[in-house]
Amino acid sequence: MVGALWMKFREKLANAEQLYTFDTVYLVPGRAEVEPSQVDLRTRLSTNVELLVPIVSSPMDTVTEYEMAVALALHGGIGVIHRNMGIEEQVEQVKRVKEHPAIRLREAFLRLSDNCAYGLEVLRDLGVRRLPVVEQGIVKGYVDYSRLVEICKTGFELVAKALVGGRVYGVSGIEEARRAIIRGETDSVAITSRDGRFLGSLLLGDALAETVPLLDEEGRLRVAAAISPFDQERAEKLDKYVDVLVSDVAHFHNVNVLHAAKELVKRASSDFVAGNIGTYQAAVDALAMIERVNGFRVGIAGGSICTTAEVGGAYAPTLWAVASVRDALEAQGAGNIPIIADGGIRSSGDAVKALAAGASSVMLGYVLAGTEEAAAPLIALGEALYKPYRGMASRGAMAKRFAADRYTRLVKRVAEGVEGLIPYKGPVSKVLSEFIEGLKAGLGYAGARNIKELWEKAVFGLAPRKTVPSELGAQR
Ligand code: XMP
Repeated sequence: MVGALWMKFREKLANAEQLYTFDTVYLVPGRAEVEPSQVDLRTRLSTNVELLVPIVSSPMDTVTEYEMAVALALHGGIGVIHRNMGIEEQVEQVKRVKEHPAIRLREAFLRLSDNCAYGLEVLRDLGVRRLPVVEQGIVKGYVDYSRLVEICKTGFELVAKALVGGRVYGVSGIEEARRAIIRGETDSVAITSRDGRFLGSLLLGDALAETVPLLDEEGRLRVAAAISPFDQERAEKLDKYVDVLVSDVAHFHNVNVLHAAKELVKRASSDFVAGNIGTYQAAVDALAMIERVNGFRVGIAGGSICTTAEVGGAYAPTLWAVASVRDALEAQGAGNIPIIADGGIRSSGDAVKALAAGASSVMLGYVLAGTEEAAAPLIALGEALYKPYRGMASRGAMAKRFAADRYTRLVKRVAEGVEGLIPYKGPVSKVLSEFIEGLKAGLGYAGARNIKELWEKAVFGLAPRKTVPSELGAQR
């Protein structure tokens, strides 16, 4: 006798979706018309915040505090400061990132009223042949070394006499400005905010550095912060300083969470990233309920330190979840909302797959853990160096009071993450540079110039079925 439940189970299985993971899907190489070095990785974290590279550091207490967030922004990505700390401390961390000089822009300029001998001295000291001339925050033009030498010969002359025109770049054009310098068109350019105020000069030496920082309209490094939708006070205090508020709950597709987020968004002015979600329906419900969603953080239980799948049997692997949510967004006419793929990304190859499936950026925990800037102490065991890495729902993280409302709201008293040690990897810049090169190579193989093109051109293939020993035996 076959029971009704059993029939239902079979019916459900017949309609069950294949939960594709990074290990079960690959990208088939495509016709390439660009070299990897020409690939443009610019993307969006949220509807109003651009990224120069699609890399976001995870808000975990062994990964992202001030140092990691600064490093990420200097490389063109962004860090999300974790919330396993007091509100004031988290606000302080965000402010420190904002106050950190975006070192590649310098307070180097001349005034119209400077005399030419002084101008020559400044140019020599900086080792450049051209500098912007600025009055009361407005760029008036440039002066060149050779012209200054000429007018100096005529006696006591002012910089104003040597003024020439030249292109001024806005903050969003920093990469373009850098390329102009590398092409040898100039050795310094003025960078201005969106409202035309002088932010600083980009000089040859800094432009040759391999990375371009991610700056806000004021020329400060961009930074995001994690919040719980239930923590209105935290969100309000962070909102004044942060670029993006990133929801940091394990299961956003929960009616209480959706309600709380709906209220929170009404009072926030920063972009709001909802998450984590893992399904098509979660995206539909979030969009229906919350007035403003500027991005989705997608993937459930796919993280390297997650035990949610073992503990609760629930799993929305990041690759599958990203593709499902992307479909939902397109169907809802919300295709402009970016997705952050979160969890289980161990390599640039995994990241390329996540981007190809419809993500605009990837969130990294494991990849960045173990680096110098990771928010964990260095530990020596014999000759080897390590850094701890732990899930935010691990016992250790939960023991810290402020993690309580992420995974342990009264009903949840079980750990859903593990703790471990990661071999020390050195400075994060090395890891990021390699990762970025890997992304460019990946887009190159797929024949895509940028992430938008990757969405269109990517061809997925299923991984070859693993041959198990018994099958081998059967074949013989
Ligand atoms: P990776 O694979 O980059 O994953 O190390 C980082 C992401 O994992 C999530 N996260 C958790 N998930 N239990 C979970 O089920 C946890 O304790 C936990 N801590 C972090 C989170 O989305 C993070 O970005």
